Amino acid sequence: MEKIKITGGNRLLGEIDVQGAKNSVLPILAATLLCADECVIHNCPDLSDVKTAIKILRNLGCSCEKTGKTLVVDSRNVDNCEIPDELMREMRSSVVFLGAIIARCGKARISSPGGCELGPRPIDLHLSSLSKMGIKISEEYGTLLCECCPEIVGTTINLCFPSVGATENIILAAATAKGITIINNAAKEPEISDLADFLNSAGARIYGAGSDTVVIHGVYKLHSTEHTIIPDRIVAATYMAAAVMTGGEVRLNNVMPSNMVSIFWAFNECGCQIEPSGKSILIKSNGRLKRIPTVRSLVYPGFPTDAGPILISMLSIAKGTSVFVENIFENRYKYIDELKRFGAKIKCEGKVAVIEGVEKLYSAKVCCTDLRGGAALALSGLAAEGETILSEIGHIERGYDDIVGVLGRIGAQIEYI
Ligand code: UD1
Repeated sequence: MEKIKITGGNRLLGEIDVQGAKNSVLPILAATLLCADECVIHNCPDLSDVKTAIKILRNLGCSCEKTGKTLVVDSRNVDNCEIPDELMREMRSSVVFLGAIIARCGKARISSPGGCELGPRPIDLHLSSLSKMGIKISEEYGTLLCECCPEIVGTTINLCFPSVGATENIILAAATAKGITIINNAAKEPEISDLADFLNSAGARIYGAGSDTVVIHGVYKLHSTEHTIIPDRIVAATYMAAAVMTGGEVRLNNVMPSNMVSIFWAFNECGCQIEPSGKSILIKSNGRLKRIPTVRSLVYPGFPTDAGPILISMLSIAKGTSVFVENIFENRYKYIDELKRFGAKIKCEGKVAVIEGVEKLYSAKVCCTDLRGGAALALSGLAAEGETILSEIGHIERGYDDIVGVLGRIGAQIEYI
């Protein structure tokens, strides 16, 4: 099994391009099923989760050709409505294929996604919303069987929590449904808007994506289209942290500053300087990072839960004590025991982490527990002097396109071993 070796302590300097967003590309790949034609997706990152999504599409009967960062999906010949158990297990977010498969095939069969590294991840909101749209859902020995009875019908859905995945599944099921679907208390994440932009470019009529009320007028069918995936705001935050944790200065190209307001707020609070200019930003620290008294993860536009591990790694070397409150996932702090191996002083209780900044981190042998937790460990490795070894790096590869190459190009001593 490959590992990553980081020899920390180098100041990171230079320029990087930020990859396309994982959380956009996955639902958009599911959405290609609705087009029943050829879709061209640009800025498609090379990630293991994207590879899994491609395997799912091929299994359903699509042909997928990737050249560089452009993926062409031809979904004309879809002839299967089932996602095999092993592919569901490879990627929990495969559940976003559910709405698209039912819309395309009239039925779907997937295994229940179950829990994941972040704790239990129920899909009750997905299922209750789909059943309100006339989809019959039953569960047999851990397999979900869904069928249109006889068609998907638009309705008003009031979500009790603005779930990203549930909002996406409803949009996918509603785009070609009969009538109008209204989602109240919808998720507002930029990746929802990207999905709606993709579908609208294929002929869908989706209004209000990015606000808390999304209205979808079902259309008879969609057609071929071409779309460019938005930049990944969490990956951008990771490379921003890499710059400031090493006392460096990095220009990030291909970012959308308007999607990153709460992330910029946190970096500014830590004393970092961010100079946005169009789709690019220059980030640098002004000496030692400062504490942030309290940060809470919230749904968009609040501080993203996925950037929590990155910020906690930063705060572990800030001057003073900070508090992070994780409000979205129940069990997101598994990586913290590994961060402590670098000498970080962090105490967790329930959803609260208290981070007492230390002056220096020490290199360590650590094990990635999840995607963003793994990124946080890589960041601590860059800041710590000496040789750090990261194992279980498959978690990182789910969401970072060539992290070793990107960090290497701005001066990090990092390699696969
Ligand atoms: C998506 C993102 C993930 C991000 C999260 C929150 C993708 C592929 N993943 O995940 O990176 O961390 O949004 O921004 O886009 N919940 C329920 N019942 C449901 C659905 C969700 O209780 O039916 C709960 C979850 O357990 C969790 C919270 O709602 O506690 C947020 O989940 P949700 O917004 O659905 O996140 P995901 O779509 O799974």
